[in-house]
Amino acid sequence: MKHFLKETDFSPAQVAELFALARELKATRGAAAGTALKHQTWALIFSKSSTRTRVSFEVGIHELGGNPLFLSKNDIQLGRGESVEDTARVLSRFVHGLIVRTYDHAEVERLAAAGTVPVINALTDFLHPCQIYTDAFTMAERWAPAGGDLFASLRGRKIAFLGDTACNMANSWVLGANLFGMKISLAGPAGFAPSAELDALLAREGFAGGYDFTTDPLAAVKDADVVYTDVWVSMGKEEEKRERLALMAPYSVTAEVFAAAKPDAYFMHCLPAHPGEEVQQAVLDNPRSIIFDQAENRLHVQKAIMTLLARRD
Ligand code: CP
Ligand code: NVA
Repeated sequence: MKHFLKETDFSPAQVAELFALARELKATRGAAAGTALKHQTWALIFSKSSTRTRVSFEVGIHELGGNPLFLSKNDIQLGRGESVEDTARVLSRFVHGLIVRTYDHAEVERLAAAGTVPVINALTDFLHPCQIYTDAFTMAERWAPAGGDLFASLRGRKIAFLGDTACNMANSWVLGANLFGMKISLAGPAGFAPSAELDALLAREGFAGGYDFTTDPLAAVKDADVVYTDVWVSMGKEEEKRERLALMAPYSVTAEVFAAAKPDAYFMHCLPAHPGEEVQQAVLDNPRSIIFDQAENRLHVQKAIMTLLARRD
């Protein structure tokens, strides 16, 4: 059984295939009814809010010929204490795949271990791999125009990640950058260096030490092809809001910070954004801000992910 819980669950060759398929699905969207998930139902189990992830998966499943079934955690017995394992075993009798957004990363691993259908991580406190694949695809579309090798176009590029450098997006980008052959520099407050948990995962994957961490945002963005940021208060961290906003204020992506990257650098953000906090409105509006292409591409890339997982090879 193949699952997609973290970036490295697909090999570089499989990611290259996945990106090529996403490009094809994007180009042919609406031309014919998809069949990859025909007669299948895929359940979305969400414990946190979502706009992009929920809608792109529901629309994507429908476009592949399948039926999406949205289950808010509190509407099913999982929210009243039924075990993760029994939930996986029961839902596996009904549906063909589980798409899960939750807090504890171990929960998606336990669902995958106990169930008999593919599990997709739709964001945990630790990782957000669907977003990272989509982001990389969105960059590659620009660096490898029609006919070019999308995956290969990422190699040697540099991404600078500013702000909450210990959040799920930062973790996932560190793992993804190593998988894609990119360099990554993180700039955030001293207490927000990558965790021991991420370091251990990198070591297991053969990527030990595969990032730079600095407290200097201008050092991080130097020579960067992409400047990336995410909210300073992730879902579940609301109680730390006041402290985080004060600590992270020096890491806001201002026009000056963005201008210190390469002259043709792109600005990216997984969204939702908080203008005036992690990024200034002028940067969101810059012609080299590609945030809405990122959002759209969630649909195409996740259709490719589900297509590959549904093949069961
Ligand atoms: N970027 C992202 O995952 O957005 P949602 O929280 O709206 O799904
Ligand atoms: N780091 C953010 C990402 C939202 C898509 C969060 O977890 O809330």
